[in-house]
Order: sequence, then C-alpha cells, then structure tokens
Amino acid sequence: MQGKYRALRLNENGFLEVIDQTKLPFVTESKVLKTTNEVVEAIKDMTVRGAGVIGSVAAFGIYTACMEVNSYDELKEKALLIRESRPTAVNLMWAVDKMMELLKDSTDLVADAKKYAIELNDEEASESQNIAKYGADIIEEILKKKNKTSINILTHCNAGWLAVIDEGTALAPIYEAAKRGIDVHVWVDETRPRNQGASLTAWELTQSKIKHTIIADNTGGHLMQHGMVDMVITGADRVSANGDVANKIGTYLKALAAFDNDVPFYVAIPASTFDFEIRDGVKEIPIELRSEDEVKYMRGVDSNGEVREVLITPKDSPAINYGFDVTPARLISGLITDKGVCKANYEEIKKRFN
Ligand code: MRU
Repeated sequence: MQGKYRALRLNENGFLEVIDQTKLPFVTESKVLKTTNEVVEAIKDMTVRGAGVIGSVAAFGIYTACMEVNSYDELKEKALLIRESRPTAVNLMWAVDKMMELLKDSTDLVADAKKYAIELNDEEASESQNIAKYGADIIEEILKKKNKTSINILTHCNAGWLAVIDEGTALAPIYEAAKRGIDVHVWVDETRPRNQGASLTAWELTQSKIKHTIIADNTGGHLMQHGMVDMVITGADRVSANGDVANKIGTYLKALAAFDNDVPFYVAIPASTFDFEIRDGVKEIPIELRSEDEVKYMRGVDSNGEVREVLITPKDSPAINYGFDVTPARLISGLITDKGVCKANYEEIKKRFN
C-alpha cells in the first residue's frame, strides 16, 4: 500500500535517501544522508522515525559509515554514535549490533555492509507482509464473531510503512484487510505532542484511500464505551521477554480503556522489536525524554501554505515530554508477529522466538 513513495531507499549514487517525515503531511520531500553525522541527526530530529525504519536507517547508516573509515575499529566508533541516537526503539541497537557482527571479518566493508543492509531490510519487509496476513485473519475472526461486515479499528501513533518497511506493523493488517475487500474504518489518535497520527497515519491512509477519522488523543475511551471501536492495533518500540510493550506515549491509557470495555487490544511487531535481555518491561525499558518544546509548540501550515510553529502555552510554563510508555502484558490480547499471533507472555514468546 506504499504507492509511489518509499520511507527509504539507496539512490542512484549509492547514498541513503529518506522521506523527510518532519515535513509531512504538508510537503513530500526526500533527504539524502551522505555521512554518519547526517544519519545520526536524521534519527535524533525525527526526519526518520518509527522503530523499524530507525533500524533500517541504522543498517544503511553503518554502510554510510563504512565509506568514511579505514578499519573495523574505526567503524566501531561510528556505530556507537548511531546506536546511541535514540534510546527506546530496540530495533536501532539490534540493527547496529547485527551489522557489526556480520562485518567483523569483512575484507571489503563498503560492499559487504551494503549487501547486509539490503538483506536486513528485505527480511523486515517480508516480516511485515506476514504480519499483514496474520493481522487480517484476526480482523476477519472479529467480524465473524460479531456478525458484522465492517470494522472500526483504533490505532495510536504511526506504525505504517513510514515506520516499518514494507507495509508497516499496525497498519499492515489494515492494508491487507482492505485488499481482501473488508470495509475498514480507522480511528486515528492524533498522538500529541508530535502528532504522528494526525500527520503521518492520516497521510498514509489518505494515500491508500482507507476510510479514517482523526480523533483527539483522549477520545478513544468514550468511543469504546459506546461500542464504536471493534479492536485496537498498535505497533511497538520494544517488547520485553515478559510481553510488556513500550510504544508511543498514551498507548497504555488506550490499553486500559480497551481492557475496561472488552475491546481486543493487539500489538503488531517484527522479531527485531523483542528485547530478551529485559524481563520486566515496565521497570526496565528506557523511556526517551525529549525537548519540552515539542509539547509547548504546535506545527502546521498557515493560510499561505507556509509551515509554521506556534507557541500554545504560557512561554515560561515548564513542560515534560516522555516519548513512550509501557503497556503491561496483562492488558494485551495478543502479539501479531511474523510467525503468527501469540499471547504476550514469557513462555509463548520464548517458544516462538528464542
Ligand atoms: O517517536 P516515534 O515516532 O519514533 O515513535 C513511533 C512509535 O511509537 C510507533 O508506534 C512504533 O515505532 C511502532 S511502529 C514500528
């Protein structure tokens, strides 16, 4: 369902080119990342974002870094810069570590890094396609159980193809359901403070002509109480061995509301999102703290189509900006993975993935 755009690609000159997500939905523009520093900056300032795409960019970032170094030891320093560019999405560390492991005996760093980064991305793309199929099967089951022909799905943040290649995670089953002819409508949480739902998810769904409605972040509970949400699907930035899920701030509150209203709450993830080193996600997953300005300023276009940022709070009021929260496994109906749907608990996850 990507249509004509790609979140990232290697361009004709062999450089990494990404869609600049900070400009969407107003301007669709790409950016070429020619150096390690540009890759690191693009991850930090969220030119690229979404756990899977951060991992993909990191893999190509290692390839970019290989063009700047003369040895594996020099590469290690660059790899560390990329690895530390954001703290929560484990796909970032996973991709860097995997690339470094593959490259450790390489005699041609540039050529090998290019090959491994492409392979890693092909793998992610095929996992996304499997997630699409397993997730769409659940959508069909829910419709059958409820004896309905159309489904209302709530999603938080952006977990489409801008966040994970090729089809995304949370949006992949939605795209697949639409392909199967199912009448799908998506409730899109705006996802303050950076509005990834209102700007990115709504943009993706518009590109694919999928019915959707943007809602203020606090609307989901009300909709659930009135039977207007059949299921919730979100993505994740890190899933601990016990099945706790870190995702964009506000996900936990949606899960609580879903639990209270018997609305199935699913989390769609590729294998690279598991972190088996962490046994208690709520206590141990590192949560990114970003600039308070992201809370205090809103971005949009004025009547002349110019992109502007405006202050929406008293100038001197302090704000705090946690990027993610952790939803405990007990609130999760299931994890939609590339190997099928499994319960969010240690034994089930270990059986399939370890
Ligand atoms: O801060 P972001 O935009 O990178 O956060 C993205 C999310 O929280 C997504 O829901 C998450 O990465 C899942 S999609 C892989």
